[in-house]
Amino acid sequence: MGCESKLWLVFLLMSGVTIVVGEPQVPCLFIFGDSLSDSGNNNKLSTDCKANYFPYGIDFPDGPTGRYTNGLTIADFITQLLGFDHLIPPYANYGGYDIKEGVNYASGSAGIRYDTGKHLGDNVELEKQLQNHKVIISEITKQVGGRVENVEERLKKCLYYVNVGSNDFINNYFLPQHYRSSEKYSPEEFGAELVKQYSQHLKALHQLGASKFVLVGLHLLGCIPHEIITHGKNHSLCATEVNNASRMFNNKLEALSQQLNKQFSHSNFIYVNTPLMASHIPQLNHPRGNQIVTCCEVGSNGQCKEEHEPCRDRSLHAFFDDFHPTEIVNRFFARYSYHSPSKSYTLPMDISQLVRL
Ligand SMILES: *[C@@H]1O[C@H](CO)[C@@H](O)[C@H](O)[C@H]1NC(C)=O
Ligand SMILES: *[C@@H]1O[C@H](CO)[C@@H](O)[C@H](O)[C@H]1NC(C)=O
Repeated sequence: MGCESKLWLVFLLMSGVTIVVGEPQVPCLFIFGDSLSDSGNNNKLSTDCKANYFPYGIDFPDGPTGRYTNGLTIADFITQLLGFDHLIPPYANYGGYDIKEGVNYASGSAGIRYDTGKHLGDNVELEKQLQNHKVIISEITKQVGGRVENVEERLKKCLYYVNVGSNDFINNYFLPQHYRSSEKYSPEEFGAELVKQYSQHLKALHQLGASKFVLVGLHLLGCIPHEIITHGKNHSLCATEVNNASRMFNNKLEALSQQLNKQFSHSNFIYVNTPLMASHIPQLNHPRGNQIVTCCEVGSNGQCKEEHEPCRDRSLHAFFDDFHPTEIVNRFFARYSYHSPSKSYTLPMDISQLVRL
């Protein structure tokens, strides 16, 4: 706790955002997704996809926690911008936290499809994350003495942040040595199939009482250093086919968000235009070879080598390892998602407007 308040101060000083101390703007925040949001759910799973070792967490007050970056994730920064005085605990380790304020279900290597990322070992796919959410809801209901209406009233006001889909491409479709999906589907068909499943999960989440959703679009996945190395035609350029596939997915996700806004008139879905935000950080979309942009020394799996000292000037690097942005990039994405300087970054509104509804 002491450490977190210090971090909070640093954040305030650096971001220049004025935050009124007091109640958070929503009673709870629930986080779904993959390694971009994971805060420790994979630590005890049998998988090669973990980040609970140095140099991950080098700038995090508690050191390595399972976050796949040097410091805070986008979801962490959003948690702070919403006025919470602590970060949202991972489902795998929520003991001692007030789960009425939210839980983080995100799991590294996980995707929308069940099989995604499973060649690395175990992970918690989106459907299982929803099952875990059901467990939490029944826990909360017990805590408030079985008063279901009170729980429903509370859940309706909470924020549901969902950032998933990258691994369905990186750790499924574009890994034909492990997965058959590219034999079965064209990139367009695969995107459609993913968004169809995504849609079913969002409807299930809505059934569980969610009404304020943030749906995060994918990065231009072909510009991630690992994809340039494995799929780029030229070492210095982004992998076009991977970028095209993530663009198609994003177009469908944005359309889904609009459709759900019409279908559920008492709920709100925001689509976050990640590539547009990324266009402000040239290193993200035009990396010139992984040596230049990646901060830590990576192994053949694209993750940081254990116990290797990372770069010193972490605020000058866009990528911490060959997949994941550095904290400074995460802070930028969080700020633009929370308080968008123009309508096109977050459609049809930003998070600060969504939580006021
Ligand atoms: C690869 O990139 C380099 C530097 O941008 C360029 O000079 C070269 O022509 C490119 N090669 C191919 C095959 O596109
Ligand atoms: C990517 O999309 C562009 C524009 O739609 C197209 O011209 C190009 O052929 C596509 N490239 C690949 C490799 O799919």
